[in-house]
Amino acid sequence: MTWSSRTHSLRSLLRDDSRQAARIAAALLLTLLLTFLGTGCLSATRAPDGPRATGEERFVDSLLAAMTLDEKLGQLNQLSADGMAGDTLTTLIRRGGVGSLMDVIGADTARALQRLAIEGSRLHVPLLFADDVIHGFRTIFPIPLAEASSWDPPLAEGSARIAAMEAAANGIAWTYAPMVDVARDPRWGRIMEGSGEDPFLGSAFAAARVRGFQGDPSLRSGQALRAPTAIAATAKHFAAYGAAEGGRDYNGADISERALREVYLPPFHAAVCAGAQTVMAGFNEIAGIPSHANRRLLTDILRGEWHFDGTVVSDWNGVVELIPHGVAGDRATAGALALHAGVDIDMVSQIYSRDLAALVRDGRVSQRELDEAVRRVLRLKYRLGLFDDPYHGADAGRARAVTLTPANRAAARQAARESIVLLENRGGVLPLKRDVGTLAVIGALATDSAAAIGSWAARARASDAITVLQGIRGAVSPRTQVLFARGASPESDDTSGIAEAVRVARRASVAVLVVGESRDMTGEASSRASLELPGAQRRLVQAVQATGVPTVVVLMNGRPLALSRLSELAPAMVETWFGGVEAGNATADVLFGDYNPSGKLPVTFPRAVGQVPIYAAHGNTGRPPSDNRYTSRYIDLPWTPLYPFGHGLSYTTFTSSAPRLSATVLRPGDSLDVAVDVANTGSVSGDEVVQLYLRDDVASVSRPVQELRGFQRVHLAPRESRTVHFVIGEQALALYDASMTRVVEPGTFTVWIGPDAAPASRVQFRFETADGASRPVPERCEEGPNRRP
Ligand code: BGC
Repeated sequence: MTWSSRTHSLRSLLRDDSRQAARIAAALLLTLLLTFLGTGCLSATRAPDGPRATGEERFVDSLLAAMTLDEKLGQLNQLSADGMAGDTLTTLIRRGGVGSLMDVIGADTARALQRLAIEGSRLHVPLLFADDVIHGFRTIFPIPLAEASSWDPPLAEGSARIAAMEAAANGIAWTYAPMVDVARDPRWGRIMEGSGEDPFLGSAFAAARVRGFQGDPSLRSGQALRAPTAIAATAKHFAAYGAAEGGRDYNGADISERALREVYLPPFHAAVCAGAQTVMAGFNEIAGIPSHANRRLLTDILRGEWHFDGTVVSDWNGVVELIPHGVAGDRATAGALALHAGVDIDMVSQIYSRDLAALVRDGRVSQRELDEAVRRVLRLKYRLGLFDDPYHGADAGRARAVTLTPANRAAARQAARESIVLLENRGGVLPLKRDVGTLAVIGALATDSAAAIGSWAARARASDAITVLQGIRGAVSPRTQVLFARGASPESDDTSGIAEAVRVARRASVAVLVVGESRDMTGEASSRASLELPGAQRRLVQAVQATGVPTVVVLMNGRPLALSRLSELAPAMVETWFGGVEAGNATADVLFGDYNPSGKLPVTFPRAVGQVPIYAAHGNTGRPPSDNRYTSRYIDLPWTPLYPFGHGLSYTTFTSSAPRLSATVLRPGDSLDVAVDVANTGSVSGDEVVQLYLRDDVASVSRPVQELRGFQRVHLAPRESRTVHFVIGEQALALYDASMTRVVEPGTFTVWIGPDAAPASRVQFRFETADGASRPVPERCEEGPNRRP
């Protein structure tokens, strides 16, 4: 019998409220007593001001001292309630054999299980309920890659805040998000879950999302996380999971130390700086070391260099997978390796709880390391305030009141609008008029509400989503007739609907073709070897295009696609990704000009899959690509992408001046100002994302041809212009030298500002030191894109 089918036993727990209240009060009294023993006062809520000897540490230490070995291992044991026998789970909870649970649905269930833990277990340690709240809980926002297209981190912070509020009311205190993996290979299905290819942009979004889930980072170990509207965040998957070879999910990443430090680690560092309470290990290995056994990553870098004092959770079965990885011969060895590496919580493999006790007893697993892991789990619970309020805001009534509210939907619509990227608009086909007479909407995705929601949908319901067809129908004038034909679907090669689609298109004055990927073609375990439109959709596009009816392509997909052919066929093309519950309304807002698109690609779009990996901040070569055959190029395709990183059009036009520098020499400790005048030269107001790129011209190691070092979104009315300022300091110029020390080297740097990563007018400055030597620039939290504006 599974847990979900045993709801009657939960209900029995909910009987007799008054007796329960008395029991809870008794349990809390015991907790408070522990608090008192630990702190010498009753203020367990006081924010700790240092790593040790704080109220938090005294409380945690005193609780730890009271624990048996099995209870300690229980705290490290995370289970999924999904499909689990109710009796087994309740017995485990009573024994203190489980520390955290995922897949617990609903506030009432969470409360009942929590009550069991705090009333029925010896030490009354509360459970921690976790879930994958990735881009919304019930109010689903655009997929993270889409939100990154807004280049508006506060927008993502707002989405995460709403997701946290809904999740907390529904019983969740911890999310496995944000995913901060830099991804440069669109074949990898999980590219949809991150912020794209760039470490600078990715760091800004990582920090913003952590702040959104957890609240104000200045209170990170204190009050913010205790709020019943905050949930603990997880920066995942540590590290370089997005560098999977061949774009094949779970595959190893044979990357250099430089790539790790300069590309894959910065967003994790930014998340830690923003106060992320937990980090999840990645399924991948790097150069032969699986992350779950990588002590250098999980302990030396994360805790040693970055001073992370939070908790590390394994990925699903990540500990037991050390066996197929080939670094452990049995379960116990896998557990010992993971614990020693720094994995505190074992998600679902139950190795810690079942196989480690004997090793601890005979000394093969260090008691000190075990205690440290348990301490971290208790600390997380303490910081969430669970020892004071184990329910952390979970309340069915509150859940109903705060979930999927009109205000949350409005925020989702704004997020979806800002996430849309106008890829092409030849001849000004867009925006469409509301009274076009007859408008044809074609493509199975136009009515696919599951696709609108996208992968990783937490508690989403497909029926909550506004489809593109619904959005368009709601936006046109009453005089406009909207026709629909399914035409073709991404999931099948069936071409039988194309003839009808052609007939429908012929009756219309404009056709909106909705094509792309189905929901299940993206996300985890959804790597693709092709980046073409799947199924019969290409045939559909060609057939509709051949009618001569002006065609607008609306793309719904979770990765960059190879759109060369499509971009030639369709004069107008908008990338809407998977936009969440308000996808259809947001798409219509853009199509009819109620919202002037402002999104910019957070990832390069290749011309063909053979160009992959292709990204803006690529290294240089001794033979930079040119028309000369013996340079770094292809003989059958240009070396340039179809759409560069940062690309995105608007219904207005912007111009920008050449950049001006406040000085041409930068010295240690100084900064310089880069200014550019941006003007709206068109006839409608709009937002431009102004991007600053930098290049270290000559260094001791070869540097990328360009690195994003600043971006700002500006809103300009027609004919309005504004001077945009960027500040460049030493952090922006840092590199890892040949000995992997982070330094700034004297010499010239080139800087340019543009609407995307394509070349623009450049200026140069010099960095000079008194003795002409390079200067160490350690990575610091207060610097860089993660800094709170
Ligand atoms: C994914 C994680 C996720 C976990 C729990 C794994 O398969 O890699 O990102 O948090 O499952 O659902």
